[in-house]
Amino acid sequence: MKKIAIFASGAGSNAQKIIDHFSPTPALPDRKEKKKPFAVQVALIVSNKKEAGVLKIAEKENVPSLIIDKEKFFRGNAYVDELKEAGIGFIVLAGFLWKLPQQLIKAFPDKIINIHPALLPKYGGKDLYGSHVHEAVIAAGEKESGITIHYVDEVYDHGKIIFQATCPVQENDSPHSLAERIHHLEHLHYPVVIEKLLS
Ligand code: GRF
Repeated sequence: MKKIAIFASGAGSNAQKIIDHFSPTPALPDRKEKKKPFAVQVALIVSNKKEAGVLKIAEKENVPSLIIDKEKFFRGNAYVDELKEAGIGFIVLAGFLWKLPQQLIKAFPDKIINIHPALLPKYGGKDLYGSHVHEAVIAAGEKESGITIHYVDEVYDHGKIIFQATCPVQENDSPHSLAERIHHLEHLHYPVVIEKLLS
C-alpha cells in the first residue's frame, strides 16, 4: 500500500477528488466483479490552518489530519519524523501556501508534487496564488490558461513540469469564472496524474 499525504491550506476540493479517486468503490449488487481497490491510500491530511475547509473533509472521510506549527515546520524537524512514522511515501500539495523547508524536500526526493492554476513558467511565484493568478492572466489579455502539475523544489512554482492542460480565457471572464474552469481541469487531471506517478 502506497500512502500519500495531502498538504492543503484552503477549501480542499482537490483533496476531496483525490480521496474519492483512491477510495475503493463498493461493489454494486448486480455487478459480477468487484472493482479492484487502488494500492494507494490518502493516509494523512496536513494543514497549516486550523479553520481550513480541508480539515472538515478529512474528518468526514475519516482521514487522519495534522495541523502543523510554523516554528516546528521551518526551524524544527519539518515534521519529517511524523510523516515517516505514518508511512508516508509521497506528498501532494493542493493549495498549500507555505514554501516547503529544504529538510522536507530532501527527505522526499522527487516525491513531492504541486498543482498550480496557470501555465508555468508564466504566472508563478510567491505572490501568485489563488485569484491573484487569474487576475494576472486576465489583465495580461491571455487567450489561454490552464494547470501545471510539477515536482516541488526550493523555489516557488519552479520544479520540473510533469503535466499541463489548457483551457480558453474568454473575453468576459472574471477571475471567479476562470477559476471555476481551472478547478474543473484540476479535478479531472490531478488524481489521474498522481495514480500514474505511483503506478
Ligand atoms: C487550486 O486552484 C490549486 O491550483 C492551487 O490552490 C487551489 C486549491 O483549491 N494550488 P482547493 O482547496 O483544492 O479547492
